[in-house]
Amino acid sequence: MELSLFSHDLISKDIAATLPAGYTLRPLQSGDHDRGVLDVLAVLTAVGEISKPKFLERFEWLRRRNDSYFIIVIENESGRIVGVGSLLIEAKFIHSCALAGHIEDIAVAKSEQGKKLGIKIIHTLMDISEHVGCYKTTLVCADHNVAFYEKCGFVKGQNEMVRKSSTLLLGTFADKLLESVLRQEEAPN
Ligand SMILES: CC(C)(COP(=O)(O)OP(=O)(O)OC[C@H]1O[C@@H](n2cnc3c(N)ncnc32)[C@H](O)[C@@H]1OP(=O)(O)O)[C@@H](O)C(=O)NCCC(=O)NCCS
Repeated sequence: MELSLFSHDLISKDIAATLPAGYTLRPLQSGDHDRGVLDVLAVLTAVGEISKPKFLERFEWLRRRNDSYFIIVIENESGRIVGVGSLLIEAKFIHSCALAGHIEDIAVAKSEQGKKLGIKIIHTLMDISEHVGCYKTTLVCADHNVAFYEKCGFVKGQNEMVRKSSTLLLGTFADKLLESVLRQEEAPN
């Protein structure tokens, strides 16, 4: 039987009711690899080669932490995933052990953009964030998406600072190198 990442009860019925006919809004499920969830994420950035076992391994990891990781999807009438978004819950000491929500990895399939699916994903994640007791919800976005998030009800906050790990970048490079060596070995002479 297919597993749900977290309880369906946390999905706003009011928002789900506003979707186009045949579309559903729900938690990520263990079978969503086959429904193209990674293809939708590829609209946002490089996803990499993720086999079904690797997907399930990560899914199980997330499910064991399903009071902190909430990934939702929108499925269309043909059973394909067309939208995805994540909410992470951060447990703090400050503000009397407050919780803060972080929205990440929002993507809508190119062919489905402009149908108000993106705003519904954000509003659903904001609703979950409030429901679990977060005192604020934040996100980081590119300049060209600022207007979208303003329409979702966000206001510009402070600056984002980033330091990318050189070790991880090296890892990615090493993986690519290994892949190309293996491909050459497999190629007919
Ligand atoms: C950004 C994204 C999630 C928006 O999803 P979407 O389903 O196309 O957006 P919606 O239809 O819900 O748009 C809601 C409103 O925001 C507006 N909007 C959407 N994207 C916008 C953008 N980039 N800039 C300005 N306004 C935008 C829409 O015109 C609409 O306005 P309206 O209510 O006045 O008609 C989608 O375009 C996407 O997946 N982009 C590629 C990945 C990405 O950049 N993700 C965000 C990472 S931070």
